[in-house]
Amino acid sequence: MPGVLNRESPSQIEAKELHPTFGAEISDVQLAELSDEGFRNILDLMAKASSSFVQYGFLVCRNTGLTDVTHVDFSRRFGDLDDIRPYMTGGRKPRYDYYELFDAGNVDQHGVVLALDSPRSHYGKGNGFFHVDSSFNPRRASYSLLRAAKLPPPNTGGNTQFVDSRTAFDTLPDELKQRLLAKDYVGAHSLHSSRKRGSPDFFADLHPEDYPMHRHRICQIHEPSGRTNLYIGAHLHHIEGLPDLESWQTIWSLMGWATRPENIASVEWKSEGDLIIWDNTAVMHRAGGGAFEGKYVRDLRRTTVHDAGPTAWGLNEKKDTRPGFNSFETPASKKLQAAMT
Ligand code: OGA
Ligand code: MN
Repeated sequence: MPGVLNRESPSQIEAKELHPTFGAEISDVQLAELSDEGFRNILDLMAKASSSFVQYGFLVCRNTGLTDVTHVDFSRRFGDLDDIRPYMTGGRKPRYDYYELFDAGNVDQHGVVLALDSPRSHYGKGNGFFHVDSSFNPRRASYSLLRAAKLPPPNTGGNTQFVDSRTAFDTLPDELKQRLLAKDYVGAHSLHSSRKRGSPDFFADLHPEDYPMHRHRICQIHEPSGRTNLYIGAHLHHIEGLPDLESWQTIWSLMGWATRPENIASVEWKSEGDLIIWDNTAVMHRAGGGAFEGKYVRDLRRTTVHDAGPTAWGLNEKKDTRPGFNSFETPASKKLQAAMT
């Protein structure tokens, strides 16, 4: 079996490196049947790896054999899962049976491809910017696990791309690095902000400043690797305490630095059942576009694990509010909520 030394002894899972500084791939490991030892091996691959130069941060798992139910069950091994219950108001139902599956696909309730001018397509555009999942929530996410349920034909695009935000910090020009460490900046994150940036005309009436944002430090130690991470991404609306212009300049410098082409790993989805696991506290990701858009089904489903680390809640109150979509009674916020499903 390519890529696997011995299926019976998953501690031997062999990973192929995907990029000089991060990312790895395994194949043909039936994740639903993984032993405890095998699972520890997966966690090691995500965080430590054998070489001190490579700390993978994301792991592509080909041919996992996972289905909706085993995807959710396998994800629970990583920690408590986030769910979409708070967003399903007014009798709305998810496309499938599990509230733990976030819908990253481009299809409607009936499995038909969404029109490019549909509200949900506008909503989805924000995922085309590098981001980390759930930084707009008071409690951030650690791992995300994204699975292909149905894929567009080959060579029609739709890769998922990654950058390592720890390497971004490590390699920053010294002056900027020292400034970040000395100032210990706090970032304010907002889902409204990334949606508006993704489709400014469609969300013209939505003003992110009118809604609560959630606060996380920009520089944080990534506990599993001991490296400093830049916790930034498209939901980052501003840096607290800086004038608007300086805040924007700093965010753009950091994002531009982190996402230089040589730092991007682009992952092609190959078959249904492929799964990518990433650590939102170490890498950023984005959805790549392509010729499939508006034409072919790309049905991806994601579980999201609540961070259990010491900085999981950032500077936020420990409250179970997940403010993305439905918490606000304004017409603009309702429009955003309606665009979600
Ligand atoms: C996500 C996401 C990227 C993609 O599900 O969180 O950003 O390629 N997906 O669909
Ligand atoms: Mn995402």
